[in-house]
Amino acid sequence: MKKHIVVIAGDGIGQEVTTVGKQVLDRIAERFGHEFTYDEALIGHAAIEATGNPLPEETITKSKQSDAILFGAVGHPKYDNDPSAKVRPEQGLLGIRKALGLYANLRPIKLFDELLQASSIKPEFLQGADILFFRELTGDVYFGEKGRRDDGNTAYDLMIYSRYEVERIAVKAFDAAMTRRKKLCSVDKANVLESSRLWREVVQDVAKRYPEVEVEHQFIDTAAMLLIKDPRRFDVVVTGNLFGDILTDEASQIAGSMGMLASASIGDTTGLYEPIHGSAHDITGKGVANPLASVLSVALMLEISFGMKAEAEAVVDAIDQVLKAGFRTRDIANANTPADLILGTEAMGKQVLSKL
Ligand code: NAD
Ligand code: IPM
Ligand code: MN
Repeated sequence: MKKHIVVIAGDGIGQEVTTVGKQVLDRIAERFGHEFTYDEALIGHAAIEATGNPLPEETITKSKQSDAILFGAVGHPKYDNDPSAKVRPEQGLLGIRKALGLYANLRPIKLFDELLQASSIKPEFLQGADILFFRELTGDVYFGEKGRRDDGNTAYDLMIYSRYEVERIAVKAFDAAMTRRKKLCSVDKANVLESSRLWREVVQDVAKRYPEVEVEHQFIDTAAMLLIKDPRRFDVVVTGNLFGDILTDEASQIAGSMGMLASASIGDTTGLYEPIHGSAHDITGKGVANPLASVLSVALMLEISFGMKAEAEAVVDAIDQVLKAGFRTRDIANANTPADLILGTEAMGKQVLSKL
């Protein structure tokens, strides 16, 4: 198969981890007889530096013309520490999600058995945990009207959802539940927020079309607690943009590290595949970032956008073998990991390639 992929590496460790992701794509093409061609595009701080715009028009055009996007990360401490900056790297990521209509963000929480000891949660509560989050990605407080009132001392971000937005993400989540353990948990704050009451109403309506799926509704505060108390009780979780952002960083600790969490952002056109982590400036340039979230994002791309199930499985299997052999990046190592098995970004990538 011929596929054209746009690599948008972005900022910080985005560059380091997508380099490995692309190497894995090349190896898959070679092994399975595909032809992958690539283009690169700018976003975030890198794009601001080059063009003044965190999301140049060219990036959107190239993305729309591609079969899939491999995305790194955006963000820079310069803006994190300057609340007054009007032009910000994150606008690039939010903008591309909106421009491509990527309303569903799938974030699988899959714990590799070998990483049971990497998590700070006790292994007996973790073994077998397998959750698929559906985070709504183009609505909510992220995209509602925002601004300042009066003398500038009052600010607001409108939390807003429309029926169709909730319905389409709920349908995706229910469809997925039907292929899994047929359990779905919808997370909201319907005891307080009107937008959550609409969310719950729509999810209840959609549920009627899926009588086989066991549905529960949890409030975000309780869901955050249950996720740590008993992660195995969850199968598919569907939630809004903000709650999904926060819950999945929390859930990354079930899988051992932010460096293990991949995601697929999909809508009606080109899919975008990205780790859930950010640009991680505390480790940028040190060559220690875990590239496996990017490699797992490649696996999601192969399966979801290209329908290459065997290829995706080969990637996940290669990671499994590398972990079984004892290799770790720093974030998934523990006190008992021998120093010679703790690898940097590039060396971890090489190990994965060697198993492919
Ligand atoms: P972060 O995800 O960048 O980092 C959080 C912590 O996790 C850091 O200690 C970091 O070192 C560690 N970490 C993250 N990815 C890792 C990996 N692959 N391997 C090893 N360790 C890893 O979050 P932050 O520090 O809150 O944000 C930094 C910048 O990234 C901010 O500007 C933020 O806006 C941006 N951000 C971007 C995205 C994205 O592009 N999707 C996501 C989150 C944050
Ligand atoms: C993520 C990030 C982004 C989000 C930021 C950088 C805009 O945290 O992809 O999870 O909040 O969606
Ligand atoms: Mn996030």
